[in-house]
Amino acid sequence: MSDNSSSKPSGFDRRAFLTGVAGSALVPMTARAAAQDAGSQAAQDLALPVDVTLRVNGQDKHLRIDARTTVLDALREHLGLTGSKKGCDHGQCGACTVLIDDRRVVSCLTLALAAEGQEITTIEGLATDDRLHPMQQAFVDNDAFQCGYCTPGQIMSAVACVKEGHATNDADIREYMSGNICRCAAYPNIVAAVKQAAPEIMKG
Ligand code: FES
Ligand code: FES
Repeated sequence: MSDNSSSKPSGFDRRAFLTGVAGSALVPMTARAAAQDAGSQAAQDLALPVDVTLRVNGQDKHLRIDARTTVLDALREHLGLTGSKKGCDHGQCGACTVLIDDRRVVSCLTLALAAEGQEITTIEGLATDDRLHPMQQAFVDNDAFQCGYCTPGQIMSAVACVKEGHATNDADIREYMSGNICRCAAYPNIVAAVKQAAPEIMKG
């Protein structure tokens, strides 16, 4: 007589096992669903408009924007300031360069919300009383552009480059302007323009 008590499949055990497996599978599925819900809720919250005041070229601008809006899109799409250009939209080309509290930044990678309370200067804010800024005049004098697409970013970057003290020789100018790409390769003329404008900018 054989004792099969240990080998006989037990309906209860089998059912309990399956219930356990099903239960353990449900936990991550439920957690995943909850995470997806939370994710879509967060995405919805991010899409809700927020109020922000940007100080642009000396004027306060009140905007109601998506919290994910970049400074570049706020300028171009909401304020109509299209001087700052969108080249790569990935921080690679420098076409979108603006000054924030006198520091050059790629505005395509800077959130507008993060710039609140700071002074944003764009290419539109450089000239005074119908007189070109010395760097703008130097770019004209030296034919430092061809298509002009990169030029606003080049000029904003060049102004900061001079103020940083990085425009005392050709090698420094090339190095510290290297974040601004010119597809027309106007580089020698850009260097000449920066050198021309530097003394006048440093005089203040
Ligand atoms: S558009 Fe911002 S770096 Fe190219
Ligand atoms: S002038 Fe054409 S990209 Fe620089």
